[in-house]
Amino acid sequence: MPPSSLMPPTPVLQTPRLVLRPVRSKDAPVIQRRFPRWEVVRWLNAKIPWPYPADGAAAYVAACLEEMAKGKKSHWAIIPKSGPADLIGIIDLWPDDGVSRSQRGFWLDPEFHGKGLMTEAAERVTQYALCDLGWPHLWLTNAQENHPSRRIKEKQGARLVDLMIGDHVGGRGPEMVWLLSREDWLARGAKT
Ligand SMILES: CC(C)(COP(=O)(O)OP(=O)(O)OC[C@H]1O[C@@H](n2cnc3c(N)ncnc32)[C@H](O)[C@@H]1OP(=O)(O)O)[C@@H](O)C(=O)NCCC(=O)NCCS
Repeated sequence: MPPSSLMPPTPVLQTPRLVLRPVRSKDAPVIQRRFPRWEVVRWLNAKIPWPYPADGAAAYVAACLEEMAKGKKSHWAIIPKSGPADLIGIIDLWPDDGVSRSQRGFWLDPEFHGKGLMTEAAERVTQYALCDLGWPHLWLTNAQENHPSRRIKEKQGARLVDLMIGDHVGGRGPEMVWLLSREDWLARGAKT
């Protein structure tokens, strides 16, 4: 079994402005309030039910807890140190399965976009994956038109390795596939 095939218990991570802590069942109501917006879901995977059902967040959180308990994925609630006290978004991480070329997902309530917060969260989670867990790389994807998500990969030092077709909530379209190696991430320096 490769070393990256099972996740350890999800730790609490800190950044200058954020606390990243494991998603918990009490998070369902705030996710149900913040997540189902077109600007959030538009470029996410088409597996997300849309229109978002009334129990969508409860089902999502239950799946997160099961995946974390089984060591399949880590799911962090993003909490700003300056408030509010509840989560403003989520970032997820999972091992390379050798097939899907995708190992990280994230979203943020639009109220908090454009402040560099997801770059900060992604950097900390990347450090966890590549340094703490010792993974050699991360596979990352985004819809080609998703400029903010694309910029985060570029800023992290990821290399664009493929362009495929992806099914997003907003429809089928070009999807960029990136490979972020530990060497490239470390070599890129603190450009964020
Ligand atoms: C992707 C997402 C998490 C980025 O979060 P964020 O905290 O706003 O991102 P950051 O502030 O760290 O900015 C990242 C880059 O995107 C740019 N950016 C942020 N919001 C932008 C916007 N509305 N339009 C254009 N560029 C934008 C920033 O300028 C920055 O690039 P720069 O350093 O060159 O200036 C957020 O847009 C989001 O939640 N989108 C919906 C969910 C989603 O698409 N997730 C990713 C799926 S692959």
